[in-house]
Amino acid sequence: EDPALLAAFEARIAAGESIEPKDWMPERYRKQLTRMMAQHAHSEIVGMLPEGNWITRAPSLRRKMSLIAKVQDEAGHGLYIYCGTETLGVDRHDLFNQLLDGSAKYSSIFNYPTLSWADMGVIGWFVDGAAIVNQTVLAKASYGPYARAMVRICKEENFHKRQGFEICATLAKGTPAQKEMLQDAVNRFWWPSLMMFGPSDKDSPNSAELLKWRVKRKTNDELRQRFVNLTVPQAQAIGVTLPDPDLKYNAETKNWEFGEIDWSEFWEVVQGNGPCNAERLAARNKAHDDGQWVREAALAHAAKRSAKSSA
Ligand code: ACO
Repeated sequence: EDPALLAAFEARIAAGESIEPKDWMPERYRKQLTRMMAQHAHSEIVGMLPEGNWITRAPSLRRKMSLIAKVQDEAGHGLYIYCGTETLGVDRHDLFNQLLDGSAKYSSIFNYPTLSWADMGVIGWFVDGAAIVNQTVLAKASYGPYARAMVRICKEENFHKRQGFEICATLAKGTPAQKEMLQDAVNRFWWPSLMMFGPSDKDSPNSAELLKWRVKRKTNDELRQRFVNLTVPQAQAIGVTLPDPDLKYNAETKNWEFGEIDWSEFWEVVQGNGPCNAERLAARNKAHDDGQWVREAALAHAAKRSAKSSA
């Protein structure tokens, strides 16, 4: 790679300019963004599964409408980010095939089961809450198409988070059984939600390069801490207990300090051995196979139309 081009590229990044698809970029930058954006898109698509599981069992029409809208938004986010990856010169079908054959990563959080209605609330509150913390910063990433996608996606994530928190606040004021169901969901999703931010900074091989090129603007640990600081007061407000006996406020740093994350569990899930990895991949593959006739019909229709217009 031409050192002069690299220096000019890095100067543009340092000046806060955004890099656009047709601009020159180092191959590593292209590769890193493709990796990160593809994993992100896959996460949105797989993220539909745990919640889709509850659409037919939502407790009211209002809840059902919100949940359908949220799951549909996630499909939109996935497609939007796949489009973003195509601006880097990859074919989304290749990425999609990597998801289907199990060779691609997607967020660890979606490999946990959704066992009760309270999980829908807690996922909106914690998982979408964590996604907002992460993606608000990515909205300032140096790659233009990704940053712009994040702006739009964060607006929708805010609605997702609010509908989730509202479910939780309602259950928290409910019967003892509803409160217990909520607390159980909080207990199961708290630690996996903290794991969404990735390994601790010392074990994060990609961070240095991504920070240097301003794809990431904050480290995994910084964002995790921000999420904890935002979420603890919300838990206090609705009277649920976060399952961490080491959680305590540090008045000096103004941070809520938290206990040790079980990193062996994190890596197991990332490596494909979480509670639902196999189930998620099977469901995704089945949906893809079931959609084969739709793709064939769409292609046949397009072929007929183009034959007609060229006749
Ligand atoms: N789940 C699965 N894999 C993960 C996770 C996670 N929670 N965290 C890190 N990893 C993977 C990384 O992808 C990387 O794998 P790879 O090098 O084989 O590609 C490896 O673990 C080491 O991690 P890092 O070096 O810290 O990786 P990175 O610097 O890319 O940071 C992070 C990881 C924070 C997830 C970053 O990629 C990111 O911000 N991605 C965009 C946001 C996103 O994908 N969100 C998805 C969930 S939100 C939602 O879908 C609603």
